[in-house]
Amino acid sequence: MSMEEIGGANTNPSMLGHDDVDEIQTQVEALDPSPAQDDKLQSLSKNKLRKLRKHDKLLENRILKRQKERELRKQKKLRKSLGNAEKFLLAEKLRKAMNSTSTPNIVIDCQYDKEMTYKEKTRLAQQLRRAYSSNKSADEPVHLTFANLSKDSEFFGICCKQNDGFAKYIVDIRDESVVDIYPVDKVIYLSPDSTTVLTRFEKDKVYVIGGLVDETTNKDQSLKFSENHKISSARLPIDEFFVPQQGKGTLKKILTVNQVFDIVLEWYRTEDWIKAISIVLPERTGFLPKNISPIQVIDSMQSSTLVL
Ligand SMILES: C[S@@+](CC[C@H](N)C(=O)[O-])C[C@H]1O[C@@H](n2cnc3c(N)ncnc32)[C@H](O)[C@@H]1O
Repeated sequence: MSMEEIGGANTNPSMLGHDDVDEIQTQVEALDPSPAQDDKLQSLSKNKLRKLRKHDKLLENRILKRQKERELRKQKKLRKSLGNAEKFLLAEKLRKAMNSTSTPNIVIDCQYDKEMTYKEKTRLAQQLRRAYSSNKSADEPVHLTFANLSKDSEFFGICCKQNDGFAKYIVDIRDESVVDIYPVDKVIYLSPDSTTVLTRFEKDKVYVIGGLVDETTNKDQSLKFSENHKISSARLPIDEFFVPQQGKGTLKKILTVNQVFDIVLEWYRTEDWIKAISIVLPERTGFLPKNISPIQVIDSMQSSTLVL
């Protein structure tokens, strides 16, 4: 006879104590499952049996809960060690790329910090962190340099304050200017105000992103610096590959430092301007990719601009 079949008429809902449970268990154990014992089984009240089953269920749930907690703890530990292993592999990949002479060079020029407000410096520090973490997780990281960044400057202090572990970033931190680090004819300064349009990134050139967060107040700063130092400059081919949808989105073509850096990474990955620029200028920003082939665009760029 099953436990469900055992029961009496008592429906008193009061809870059973441990003694009650023991007593019922003794009674149930003493029962012979033969038909002759049916009467005895019937004599147990339905209510007591319900409570006994409830008690068993509670015990069972408690055991299941503990098993589940143990399993979750195990999974958490495993995830943590996998996360650490992944972090280690990413750091190794980045270190390898930084040490290789064939890795493309990108510089973020921090020379403008003296002209910035504290708030702007804080924003630039955050953009350096975003650029660094994009590089760290990139399939093919570039050789990233923060130029004009002295380790005893106020800006370096802000970077350390804003970004955990900044001083240990796997990045080249140089206090010299780009013109002192690289031959000037290898350098191309990216500037939204340049009249030259970039057709592609070349691995033997060094591309510089101006460490500026302003969009309007200090117009032409990066262009002026490149002109003063006889460095080539170039703007990203946004107009060449995208059509602005008037009345839609921000239509901003002056991008932040980390957005430009992300475009560089994506371009190196895909060698496709539409894909590269779309990751920071999705359609909602008001730019629609032009419906023409990249070859047509390159042809038109080559006939109208000085190509780098
Ligand atoms: C916020 S912008 C600063 C704009 C600033 N008025 C200037 O003089 O460069 C930060 C940097 O990102 C790069 N940048 C932003 N938009 C760009 C574009 N459309 N083409 C090329 N470089 C761009 C430039 O290197 C620029 O210095």
